[in-house]
Amino acid sequence: MPLSDADIEEEQRHFSNVVATFRKYSSYHLAANNRRRKDLFTLPQADQVLLDQLGYKTKLDEVDKAISANEQFLNQIVVDPEIFGGDEEVPEEEDEATVPDSSPLVDTISQISQSSHSHSHSHSSHSHSHSHSHSPSHSHSSRKEYKPTAFDMDKLRSTLKQLVRDWSAEGREERETSYGPMKEALLAHFSDIPEEERRNFRVLVPGSGLGRLAYDVASLGFACQGNEFSHYMLLASFLILNKTERPNMHTIYPYVHSFSNLPDRASLLRAITIPDVEPTLPRGSVFSLVAGDFEEIYGKESDPNEPQAGLWDAIMTCFFIDTAKNIVNYLRVIHKILAPGGVWINLGPLLWHWEDNNTNDPSVELDLVEVKQLARMVGFEIENERTIDATYTTNSRGMLGYTYRTAFWTAKKII
Ligand SMILES: C[S@@+](CC[C@H](N)C(=O)[O-])C[C@H]1O[C@@H](n2cnc3c(N)ncnc32)[C@H](O)[C@@H]1O
Repeated sequence: MPLSDADIEEEQRHFSNVVATFRKYSSYHLAANNRRRKDLFTLPQADQVLLDQLGYKTKLDEVDKAISANEQFLNQIVVDPEIFGGDEEVPEEEDEATVPDSSPLVDTISQISQSSHSHSHSHSSHSHSHSHSHSPSHSHSSRKEYKPTAFDMDKLRSTLKQLVRDWSAEGREERETSYGPMKEALLAHFSDIPEEERRNFRVLVPGSGLGRLAYDVASLGFACQGNEFSHYMLLASFLILNKTERPNMHTIYPYVHSFSNLPDRASLLRAITIPDVEPTLPRGSVFSLVAGDFEEIYGKESDPNEPQAGLWDAIMTCFFIDTAKNIVNYLRVIHKILAPGGVWINLGPLLWHWEDNNTNDPSVELDLVEVKQLARMVGFEIENERTIDATYTTNSRGMLGYTYRTAFWTAKKII
């Protein structure tokens, strides 16, 4: 179904608000750091002297420099924000992209729906809030300069931390814990297939975040498609996947925004270089990212030109199923689009993203036993179940870290 003009306008408005958030990162965070400086002046003189001797003011200056370095990196992401089509007509469907000789590695396809942007929920180590706020709406004609909210900035800071998870050497251990067993299960399921024939098997990674799992799966030789609806994720992954000239070409400081739970200055000012690899794929690889809402894109009634039913030989959901408002529909969609003999590989917690939302959206929050029972009712047989302890964007040098006891399984269609 084509998008309405109102949908397109809403989408463009949201996109330009996200771009504004990137562009205002530095002024927002320098002001936040300056608050610390101002607070110093409110203290008794003797206390100021002691804090000065600790080098507290110097630390604040170093944080300013790190924020400026982050700004330079973030500006590169939005230097050409027309990558999602800008004012052009938004295509309804995408064609599978075969990786050509030269860049771009992956075309991000603008199939974005009205609901594609409205929320994001952090699995990050420090935040368990369940906020679902919408940015204030402005029409194009009366549009004033957008003032990013604290919520917008939180998403941007999370993006920096997710870059560590997906695209840095520091994130390797975290990736190994989550992506590792999922990739092993994929290879085990297709162990009879010669490597050179893997490209005939389609793997879908819904909620692909910054794209590393999808890229790794394509690197293994499968035809892989990631699906993601957050503009923060799509913009950042576009830069990494398509504009990387050499490994470790960017330096970011993801931990400078909060002074809490840090053992020392080095952990605050820790520089992370990204990406740990130059993302390239052999000629002929099949890799695409589709922008938009999982249920709308894959759950629509079958289009004769792009039938989704039974299309996917594997579906890999990593920290994803709890993004559902209605888990019944997520499971139904996964079941419908999985090919007979295909495999659904899941790893993640149940941090229901819509629990306690303030936008009057429905939310169904099941426990793990219920989710698995529901999966069986929908027509899956669950196998290889285990619990895997995994972190999500954790600061490994911090004094606080959450470990999720994630649920891992593989499942096949039985009805
Ligand atoms: C917790 S993150 C996990 C990201 C990635 N799989 C990982 O393990 O790093 C969940 C991701 O799903 C995306 N997402 C949530 N609901 C979605 C939906 N309905 N359609 C597409 N993407 C969605 C979010 O934007 C976010 O990037």
